[in-house]
Amino acid sequence: MSDPLYRDYERLVEIIIAGKKFKVPENNTCLRAFQFISPGTIPYGRFCWNQECQMCRVVLKLGNQAEDAPRPALACKTLVADGMNIIELSAELKWTLSGVLKPSERRPPVE
Ligand code: FES
Repeated sequence: MSDPLYRDYERLVEIIIAGKKFKVPENNTCLRAFQFISPGTIPYGRFCWNQECQMCRVVLKLGNQAEDAPRPALACKTLVADGMNIIELSAELKWTLSGVLKPSERRPPVE
C-alpha cells in the first residue's frame, strides 16, 4: 500500500491495545499505528514523534504468553509486531485513543 503517512506495508497485523484488538499496518511504529486507528485524534496529541517528549510511553508484551515480560517502550520508536499486546498507555495516549478504546455501546433493540 502506498500512503505517504505510513511506511510501505503489504498487510495488516493484529495488535491488542488495552484489551481491544485492532488491525494496523506492519512495518510502522506503534504511534503511527495508533494514528491509523484514530486518524482524527492522534495528530492533536502533544507528540514530538522523535523520542524526546516521552508523551508516548507504553508498556507492552510482544505476545500473549505468560512468559512474555511486560516492557516499557516509546510508541514513536517501537515497530508494531503481530500479536503485540499494549497493556499500559501514557495519559496523552489514553486521551487521544479514548474514542476507539471505550467499550462499544449496545443499543436496545428497535421495536
Ligand atoms: S512522541 Fe515524543 S517521545 Fe514519542
